[in-house]
Amino acid sequence: MALAIMVTLVLNLILLFSVVSTVNSLSFNYYEKTCPDVEFIVAKTVKAATAVDKTVPAALLRLHFHDCFVRGCDASVLLNSKGSNKAEKDGPPNVSLHAFFIIDNAKKAIEATCPGVVSCADILALAARDAVFLSGGPGWDVPKGRKDGRISKASETIQLPSPTFNISQLQKSFSQRGLSMEDLVALSGGHTLGFSHCSSFRNRIHNFNATHDVDPTLNPSFAAKLKSICPIKNQVKNAGTTLDASSTTFDNTYYKLIIQRKGIFSSDQVLLDTPNTKDLVSKFATSQDAFYKAFVKSMIKMSSINGGQEVRKDCRVVN
Ligand code: HEM
Ligand SMILES: *[C@@H]1O[C@H](CO)[C@@H](O)[C@H](O)[C@H]1NC(C)=O
Ligand SMILES: *[C@@H]1O[C@H](CO)[C@@H](O)[C@H](O)[C@H]1NC(C)=O
Ligand SMILES: *[C@@H]1O[C@H](CO)[C@@H](O)[C@H](O)[C@H]1NC(C)=O
Repeated sequence: MALAIMVTLVLNLILLFSVVSTVNSLSFNYYEKTCPDVEFIVAKTVKAATAVDKTVPAALLRLHFHDCFVRGCDASVLLNSKGSNKAEKDGPPNVSLHAFFIIDNAKKAIEATCPGVVSCADILALAARDAVFLSGGPGWDVPKGRKDGRISKASETIQLPSPTFNISQLQKSFSQRGLSMEDLVALSGGHTLGFSHCSSFRNRIHNFNATHDVDPTLNPSFAAKLKSICPIKNQVKNAGTTLDASSTTFDNTYYKLIIQRKGIFSSDQVLLDTPNTKDLVSKFATSQDAFYKAFVKSMIKMSSINGGQEVRKDCRVVN
């Protein structure tokens, strides 16, 4: 009898533990005792890489977004394909995913100082924050304590929003992850950094639909410019365009361009399609400060999407 009660008690405890450990409990001082230099090391690594290659911040920010939108922020985007399993990074929307080596470098330096403590998911979240700050954007304190996942499937990248999405599809994609329309408008501001290949917007400039060759929501002279960069039979391997005119500076130019109907993707342009999102676009176009405040709030929300269960030794392979 006593034994049975003991066993039940222990089982309940185990259950309680496994429930608690899957609940997200991020904190600002998570590594205060175990790895106090982690933020310094990540910042130093990102800064050094950016000094050599200006496209690094954009790549890191997008990597973090892709990570969080598939299985939560669990560094699943960093895992390599193994055997017959094709990983996320080898899935279709991976064009321009790069900068993986920066996370590897940071991880190596961190393992040398405090082995086995800091998750790859946390390193990526910190690197994304540093990327924004180094580009002249806002800085913020990143809650930490994420765990790394053990699964990464190329087939799951279909869960990422597509650049052809309309506003209701975007809303659905974000709300499935606990993110609001305000988060959608603010986080889309990430497109103030970086580059797009022709393939990501070609549907808007060639054979758009049965009645229009070019998406009529696109500014005509801008559309002509995009067509000259991306002709129908494109021969240039990495042809494409920057996402805004100041693509290495984290500013509110992106929103000003949307109002001029010069957003690159449909998913950018459709932010004008509901009164609520349109008002936010105007607000962020007028006030960079309002954009920064909203972006920080939404980044903390997005980067807290739960996932993962271990601290990987090598960001590219599960333990
Ligand atoms: C709202 C839904 C979104 C869609 C449909 C979308 C789609 C895309 C596409 C198609 C590209 C270009 C890929 C290429 O052709 O190389 C891109 C680039 C980029 N995206 Fe997004 N994105 C979205 C949201 C976000 C969010 C939330 C962030 C971060 C907060 C973000 C950050 C970036 C960055 C920084 C780049 C440039 C990457 C580089 O230059 O390496 N995007 N996005
Ligand atoms: C993207 O995926 C393709 C296969 O779909 C793969 O051949 C390519 O190496 C991947 N690119 C990156 C940067 O991982
Ligand atoms: C968005 O696209 C979906 C799927 O194609 C469609 O069912 C929906 O009516 C569209 N919504 C808007 C606002 O265009
Ligand atoms: C093509 O797209 C435009 C703009 O969205 C729309 O007004 C028009 O009805 C579409 N034509 C067809 C045939 O779908």
